[in-house]
Amino acid sequence: MENETRFGRGFTLWFTGLSGSGKTTISEIVEKELRERDHRVEVLDGDIVRTNLSEGLGFSREDRNINILRIGFVAHLLSRNGVAVIVSAISPYKEVRDQVRRRIIDFVEVFVDCPLEVCAKRDVKGFYEKAFEGEIKQFTGVSDPYEPPAAPDLILKTDQQEPHESARKVLEKLEFYGYVSPLLGIEEYTGLPEG
Ligand code: ADX
Repeated sequence: MENETRFGRGFTLWFTGLSGSGKTTISEIVEKELRERDHRVEVLDGDIVRTNLSEGLGFSREDRNINILRIGFVAHLLSRNGVAVIVSAISPYKEVRDQVRRRIIDFVEVFVDCPLEVCAKRDVKGFYEKAFEGEIKQFTGVSDPYEPPAAPDLILKTDQQEPHESARKVLEKLEFYGYVSPLLGIEEYTGLPEG
């Protein structure tokens, strides 16, 4: 298997969803958990990538596609070397998401699904208010489309569950796929014979 290295099996965990849907919050919890389980982890967060690797890119369809392809390229390089890569980017367009997905062998797509009204109400960064007033143009969900994934590996309804619960579901999925070893709970330990 190409992504199997002496550091373990690499993979790319890709969070897609509206701004304010909870991608970064969930990915931070998952990141911490993976580190505790001795994985080598790298996080590629849209907001951060846009201050370095994608500095200067805007939010036209073309620029977003370039941003996603760049993130996908780095994720590909890292994950084939045993790294657990967490991507958190709106990645609103299906076509380019699928293009990246085809390139990365071990790819887990997570749709962070939260109604626009809820994201707008949270308005963590104050962008939605500006977007509704037309101060920010081409804002995803308001004046630019978000195309939901047709067949994601996991859907997280973040208006209905807490970030820790979402993170737990992600870890369970990674365990199910065999990318992460399950933690032995107390039940398993008590089942061991003594001595
Ligand atoms: S993507 O569309 O190219 O995937 P990315 O995740 O990198 O987007 O960046 C999104 C972040 O940029 C948002 O969380 C928000 O903070 C900021 N932002 C600024 N302008 C826009 C816009 N027009 N649409 C969406 N996000 C924007």
